[in-house]
Amino acid sequence: MIRLGINIDHVATVRQARKTIEPDPVSAAAMAERGGADQITAHLRADRRHIQDHDIELLKEKVRVKFNFECACEDEMLAIACRLKPDQVCLVPENRQEITTEGGLDVVTHRNKIAKSVYRLQQHGIFVSLFIDPEAAQISAAAKLGVEAVELHTGAYANAQSLDQSQQELEKLKLCCQHVIETPMRLHAGHGLTYSNVQPVAAIEGLEELNIGHSVIARSVFVGMETAVREMKQLISIQ
Ligand code: PXP
Repeated sequence: MIRLGINIDHVATVRQARKTIEPDPVSAAAMAERGGADQITAHLRADRRHIQDHDIELLKEKVRVKFNFECACEDEMLAIACRLKPDQVCLVPENRQEITTEGGLDVVTHRNKIAKSVYRLQQHGIFVSLFIDPEAAQISAAAKLGVEAVELHTGAYANAQSLDQSQQELEKLKLCCQHVIETPMRLHAGHGLTYSNVQPVAAIEGLEELNIGHSVIARSVFVGMETAVREMKQLISIQ
């Protein structure tokens, strides 16, 4: 059974639009849990555009399922992670201009910086996942760092502009998933997944975790968080 991680950042995006106290991402996390989420994911960005420091503190305290803290390889974020010790840290690249995380970490080019971050987190007993593009060189570089997991970026598949392109990206993703399961690393995936494109990804053998945000938060505006999560959970469970 694949774990469903619900990324609640965009609940905070709505709150920050008015710099008020609602909607509260911590309450959203509790509702997501009731809908069957196996994990809550939140990304504390350097620019604090959505999730705030106090959200992270409260999520760590209140989340009953796994708590996955997403952050960049920066000292400020690593210090927060090492102090709070979430169940998992997913290291991602971060660029102030981007609308969302655009690409995966370039483990080949930034190996030393990423290795130091991974070591620091692992010294605090934290399970580390690296968000990377589905490319053989990135997977091999991640495996050499001894990380516990990689989350393969599904954006190229999700954003494909034609059926052909989507099939090609899916095949590429499947090959990379196979590559990951031949290493000691656990296999996670996410980004850009929706109710209509998630099933072929959820059917990939060896995949243990999916992290989904925008599509579920968008649907929750109409049907409520619990139902939105339950519907996604059902889709990824029917294989
Ligand atoms: N995984 C990672 C590492 C991410 O950065 C994000 C977006 O914050 C997601 C998954 C979820 O992506 P989406 O919001 O497109 O479902």
